[in-house]
Amino acid sequence: MSAAPSFQVFDTPEELAQRLADWIVARVGAHRGRIALCLSGGTTPRRLYALLGAAPRRDHIPWARTHCFWGDERFVPRGDPRSNFRMAREALLQHAPIPAENIHAVPTDRGSAADAAAEYEQTLKRFYGADALEPGRPLFELTLLGLGEDGHIASLFPNSPALNETNKWALPVTGQGAVDRVTLTYPTLASSAATVFLVAGKRKHEALSHLRAGDPALPATRLCQVGEVFVFADRAAAAAPAFSGA
Ligand code: 6PG
Repeated sequence: MSAAPSFQVFDTPEELAQRLADWIVARVGAHRGRIALCLSGGTTPRRLYALLGAAPRRDHIPWARTHCFWGDERFVPRGDPRSNFRMAREALLQHAPIPAENIHAVPTDRGSAADAAAEYEQTLKRFYGADALEPGRPLFELTLLGLGEDGHIASLFPNSPALNETNKWALPVTGQGAVDRVTLTYPTLASSAATVFLVAGKRKHEALSHLRAGDPALPATRLCQVGEVFVFADRAAAAAPAFSGA
């Protein structure tokens, strides 16, 4: 991880979600141009998304010039309970006045995850207006990332060949769990003015500890952002496990 992250630890997942929602509103609200958000999947962001999709915070986000993308997606129909798009739509997007054309879901109705990844890459390039990412011009204003217990981010899992991809913007991921996935690659995730890791729960303590220690074995650690890096964690993920020795 290139930039030394700033860590903020909150007593509870609810306080984490509330404070991160305020932080996002302040950051996005201060932005004058087009805003590209790269949303995280998983379960942790659900409460955050619900807060952003409800008054008063919803009314302080410039939705007409805000675009939503996903850092990864399961290759399932959009109505599938495992869909990251479905979670974000239910918690946030169906409650916010965001134009439909500003919602850039991974096209999981294609023939394969490879087809979906190839098409999503073209979507990203069209939005960006170039076929190569420029260090001084981030694709995203804000990228939200969860942290897997094994230190994965998006669908970049330990020992995956996708970790070594530096040219493609999105890749299919197979053999990691019950369904195929589509993930953005490191260069694409890194092309963000600000990256926020959202980490809650004692199950994440070990991964977060390795992240803080800069363990290169962690996919999360190898992300070299061009922008600022923040970690928003709750105490259960950040605190040392209570001493349980005899
Ligand atoms: C996914 C996510 C994945 C997630 C982590 C943490 O599609 O599952 O993109 O990277 O962020 O696995 O998931 P939880 O928030 O559910 O712990």
